[in-house]
Amino acid sequence: MFTPLSQRQAHLIEKMDATNADSEQLEQTYADFYTLNRWVSQWNRVYTKYVRPHAIEIQKQGKIFQVLDVGCGGGDIAFFLFQWLKKDGISAHITGIDIDNRAIVWAKANRSVQPETALVNKNKPTGLFFECISTTELAHRGHKVDLVMNNHVLHHIPSTEITPFLTECAELGTKVICNDIERSSLAYSLFSLCLFPLRFRSSFIYQDGRTSLKKSFRENELDTLSSEGWKVERLFPFRLLLIYEGEHGHA
Ligand SMILES: C[S@@+](CC[C@H](N)C(=O)[O-])C[C@H]1O[C@@H](n2cnc3c(N)ncnc32)[C@H](O)[C@@H]1O
Repeated sequence: MFTPLSQRQAHLIEKMDATNADSEQLEQTYADFYTLNRWVSQWNRVYTKYVRPHAIEIQKQGKIFQVLDVGCGGGDIAFFLFQWLKKDGISAHITGIDIDNRAIVWAKANRSVQPETALVNKNKPTGLFFECISTTELAHRGHKVDLVMNNHVLHHIPSTEITPFLTECAELGTKVICNDIERSSLAYSLFSLCLFPLRFRSSFIYQDGRTSLKKSFRENELDTLSSEGWKVERLFPFRLLLIYEGEHGHA
């Protein structure tokens, strides 16, 4: 059962990314992300340590906290963030973007939140929105937000496109948080051995999870990708954060 994962297998492709993926399994995958992310992604910790303090600073300036969730998939992380911010009394405008329109159609149907007009700025609605658009297009338009975040996206990006992708994220956000799995043989064995094939039998989660564990990064590999303004942080168990807090620089 031990699978050595010393080398990143960046060439592998997840089933969900295939243009001819079975639509029922794909939609179930977007739905299952909700459960999977609650179990493994640790956004509650990231929210407390990084997102909420930043959001409070923005709120103190009398502004609506603007967030871009890049590669939002089914929109569950954007949805969690919106709920947590609302519970903390913080007005937020969160947009989930994805280059795959199938994800956006699903997220709009299942995770949208009615826009409200925020008291702090009557022209700017708070709420959760979804759009099929790339970071490249948004960066060209000069779009700016307070936080760009992504979850389980870095390992989906082709190796040659990662540095431009991170550069665009840093142009778009004053802060960037990339949260991804850490490649590890132990994580792969645990994921393979536990009940995931039963719990996620109608979606691509089990097969794509194993592929993702082969494609994801180790700490030193993310260190190599990052430059001034970026830092890498490990989160127990098997998570890596790549964080940008610089001045619209380059990865
Ligand atoms: C594993 S899914 C993660 C979905 C979601 N973030 C979550 O954690 O539930 C990866 C998503 O990233 C999207 N994606 C891949 N490359 C992207 C890019 N360059 N820009 C935006 N989205 C991208 C894919 O279409 C897919 O929906």
